[in-house]
Amino acid sequence: REVYTGMQEMSEVDENLIVVGFSQVGSESDWRNAHTQSVKEALTEENGFYLIFEDAQQKQENQIKAVRSFILQEVDYIVLAPIVETGWEAVLQEAKDAGIPVILDDRLADVDEELYTCWVGTNAEKEGEDAGLWLADYLEKEGRDEEEINIVTVQGTAGATAQIGRTDGFQKILKQHDNWKMLDRMDGDFTQAKGQEVMETLLAKYDDIDVVVCENDNMAFGAVDAIRAAGRTCGPDGDIIIISFDAVSAAFDAMIAGEINAVFECNPLHGPKLQEIITSLEAGKTVDKIQYMEEAYFDTTMDLESIRKERAY
Ligand code: AHR
Repeated sequence: REVYTGMQEMSEVDENLIVVGFSQVGSESDWRNAHTQSVKEALTEENGFYLIFEDAQQKQENQIKAVRSFILQEVDYIVLAPIVETGWEAVLQEAKDAGIPVILDDRLADVDEELYTCWVGTNAEKEGEDAGLWLADYLEKEGRDEEEINIVTVQGTAGATAQIGRTDGFQKILKQHDNWKMLDRMDGDFTQAKGQEVMETLLAKYDDIDVVVCENDNMAFGAVDAIRAAGRTCGPDGDIIIISFDAVSAAFDAMIAGEINAVFECNPLHGPKLQEIITSLEAGKTVDKIQYMEEAYFDTTMDLESIRKERAY
């Protein structure tokens, strides 16, 4: 059996290996890199897999091309981390027609559920809600629960599950607080550079920001840089509260340094879960359609040094 490795070269693959084509979003964040590493470490030849990895560089058209190339190569499974939720119907129908099971990973696709076997990922709406509940609790403890609170959001890639869920979840809690005002929301595309740029714009536009909700850690790092460059302060001892999502190792450093107040975890270690799902499917078992990762949250009141030692990303 021969498959392409990368888009060009052909390789002979041992007949006994399960061939998996994985279309990854890109390498836009620390979270994404930890996610890629986890999948690569689980779907190894030693574990009985042959992984064809395609990095879409944050472009849906590249993901569609990758899925079509996986179909042509007659892979056994397709794992797709869809950059945005829309636009997948046609290519996933092609995979179905070719009889190749598709596992959606990390983000959802807005398609008929017959077009995919299952989905593994984060409950982004719950993360957003948890962030809002944390803020309400924090403000109450600070004696600021009656104050006017001005909030801005640095959003993830528009239309991505993590963006939609975190925005909607936080909005749900915001609506319960008449004194909270969302001044603005801007797209930071989940990258540090864009997060910094967007925060610079927001700081130039508003001089009364109390809270910044950053829809991932890398955008939070960029926002912190912008705030400090503007001569402002943030974190538990500063004048702007920073809330973030992911909980990568560098976010622990930022909380320990007093730059970020709280981080809501998005667990990137999907590799073992994908391995388990494919192994079950190979054994003819059915798997749960929706599979959430276990997640927690962290803030500066916790023993972050000890927690970080126990973590792998
Ligand atoms: O879909 C998960 C999100 O994508 C993570 O929060 C973010 O860091 C990544 O780029």
